[in-house]
Order: sequence, then C-alpha cells, then structure tokens
Amino acid sequence: MNTILSPSILSVDFTNLQQSIDIVNRSEADWLHLDVMDGVFVPNLSFGFPIIESVAKTTQKPMDAHLMVIEPDKYINRLRDLGVSRVTVHYEACPHLHRTIQAIQKAGMKAGVALNPHTSVPLLTDVITDLDLVLIMSVNPGYGGQTFIENSCPKIARLKALIESQHASALIQVDGGVNFETGRRLVDSGANVLVAGSFVFSSTDPVDTISKLKQL
Ligand code: DX5
Ligand code: ZN
Repeated sequence: MNTILSPSILSVDFTNLQQSIDIVNRSEADWLHLDVMDGVFVPNLSFGFPIIESVAKTTQKPMDAHLMVIEPDKYINRLRDLGVSRVTVHYEACPHLHRTIQAIQKAGMKAGVALNPHTSVPLLTDVITDLDLVLIMSVNPGYGGQTFIENSCPKIARLKALIESQHASALIQVDGGVNFETGRRLVDSGANVLVAGSFVFSSTDPVDTISKLKQL
C-alpha cells in the first residue's frame, strides 16, 4: 500500500490560506490535516469552525480533523455538517472513549484516536477493533516544527503488532517532525499515514515534497 499523505496547514500563512489549499489540491496529497487546538488540552490555540468552513469550500481533498481539545463530542455533528471525513480525538481527552468513537462513526465519519508520546499502546487493546485509525504523536501536541521523538518508531511497531494480533483494520498515522529521514523510518516501522506540516510548507516546492513523501 502506498503511503497516505495528509499535509497539515497549521504552519502556513493564514493571510494566504487559499494559496496553501491550492498547493495541496494540485499535489498528490490524499487528505488535508486540520489541527484544532483549544488552549486547554494543549497550551496553544489554532483555529475552529470559521476557518474549517472556508477550507471546506475550496479543498478537493478529504478533511482529516485532529482535535486537540477537551470534550470533543460537542463538535462532532458540526464537523460532519462541514464535510469532514475523519475525526481523531485524543485518548487523554476522552473519559468515555468508546462512546466518543461510536458517536463519530454514527455521524458517518471515520474515527481515530491519538496517543500522546507518554501514552502506551496497550491502553487501546479493548477498542482497537472499533477504530478506523490510530494517530501516534511523534511530538507533544500543540505546535508545528518540533523535533521528532525517537521512541515513535518502536511504538509504531508495537501498535502494528496489536492491530495484527486482533485482526483489526485501523490505519497507523504519525504526526510531528516528519521529514524524508524520519518519514522513511516511520514507514519502515509500519506507518500507513504521514502528517507533515512545516517540512512541506517550508520547502521550495511543496507539491514535489508531498510527492516524494508519498514514495517513502
Ligand atoms: C502538532 C500537530 C501537527 C503539526 C505537525 O500538535 O498535531 O499536525 O502541525 O507539524 P510538523 O510537521 O511541523 O511537525
Ligand atoms: Zn495534527
């Protein structure tokens, strides 16, 4: 299976957002990654519904929403109404994770769960067969442009073993510090979906960078 690429627009110039969406539209990107931060679950704010609504009007790629927020259940139906395809919530933000996953899927979207760097893979043992995607955070969530955490590669291998042992079908997504070098090792470890923000949009040719990341 080819690597699925989901560029994050977190670190683009929002006064020229259309330009960044056009780049993603022209590229071989599979999805468009939207990093929603509430300043509570993570120590930063990013963007919410007004921006997602604008993006939805012009993106040609399925929207992949990564919710770094507390109480994500409150936003599920509005995200569905805006055309979002996938919603990923944080394990650490969901006391009733199974209910949240069901609510996302009942709304007609794919459901993912993200694990912070300190959160161990076996905590997903009892929900892994219910999930469409698991997102391994390879930085602490909250900011773009951070340094890749090395433990992410063996963690992906452990997640892949869990998925296979339960005959589950969840995709393995990785987010944070992805570039050609870390991306290669992540794919070798079992990652199916790479998120990349600053590496793509600070490159001289983002369309070409996206294409090369897909070939890792
Ligand atoms: C971090 C976000 C990431 C981030 C990735 O909280 O979830 O999606 O934008 O940025 P880079 O690729 O710059 O590490
Ligand atoms: Zn993200």
